[in-house]
Amino acid sequence: MTSRPAILIARAVFPEVVARLREHFEVETNDLDAPFTPVELAQRLQGKQGAMTTGSERIDAALLAACPELRIAANIAVGYNNFDVPAMTAAGVLATNTPDVLTETTADFGFALLMATARRVTESEHFLRAGLWNRWALDMFAGAEVHGSILGILGMGRIGQAIARRGAHGFGMKVIYHNRSRLDAATEAECQASYVSKDQLLAQADHLILVVPYSAESHHAIGAAEIAQMKPTATLVNIARGGIVDDAALAVALREKRIAAAGLDVFEGEPKVHPDLLTVPNVVLTPHIASATLKTRRAMADLAADNLIAFFTRGEALTPLN
Ligand code: GLV
Repeated sequence: MTSRPAILIARAVFPEVVARLREHFEVETNDLDAPFTPVELAQRLQGKQGAMTTGSERIDAALLAACPELRIAANIAVGYNNFDVPAMTAAGVLATNTPDVLTETTADFGFALLMATARRVTESEHFLRAGLWNRWALDMFAGAEVHGSILGILGMGRIGQAIARRGAHGFGMKVIYHNRSRLDAATEAECQASYVSKDQLLAQADHLILVVPYSAESHHAIGAAEIAQMKPTATLVNIARGGIVDDAALAVALREKRIAAAGLDVFEGEPKVHPDLLTVPNVVLTPHIASATLKTRRAMADLAADNLIAFFTRGEALTPLN
């Protein structure tokens, strides 16, 4: 009898997914769900050929050197900046992610955060909960118009396009976008989106949403200089990755009302949040939950499991990155 591959599931996942993996592999789990330090992760991966990871596990050259038996890391996320893909390729380790299954759910949340930010939903709720609401007033928590406004999208992949469709078809917004490469004409027409330069995007958008992957190139793509190019009435939403926005510069800009408001689902150094962001009122803060519906999180875990099973049984994964 040939021995079964051994895998580590680095964070707690749905019991049904673990059970399915146990049909194929020797499985080690992390039932306490505390993220491993890099040293603990390397220790847990000894003797393992596969890993199911999340954004909290970094697979880089040092980890790969310490874990020579590893052959695949299947990330439960569409973003994979926790993977050093060139180092994985050099070490002969396959990387996979979970595209498509989260696109619409994440776009829904992008829109939820945009609307909460523009219409000051959490700021006004805090006011109410604090017992400060003693009369109605004409200008109370007056926010920015969403319908008919200009929606700017930085990063026009699958999620950016799904947000564009919501904005254009659902809210009658004029959609402009900037991306490394321009979309083909048919996709632009379907999303009713016009390509503009990054400078035009910053200057024209009433609501700017960031959906660009994190890389050295997108690090601090929005900092003080970019915020200075935005309208003082504009809002900014980041559902992409921490580090794309310079959070310290954003906190200053929000306090000084250089833009009206921001909505952030991702943060530099999360789960820590820049302390200045916690004290400015005009920001909506959520803990990296854009894809968090039970159905979608289950679909993401299932796809990561399918990648592991397909790789070890057929030699090829469903959504490989290298
Ligand atoms: C979540 O942030 C993901 O990349 O799927």
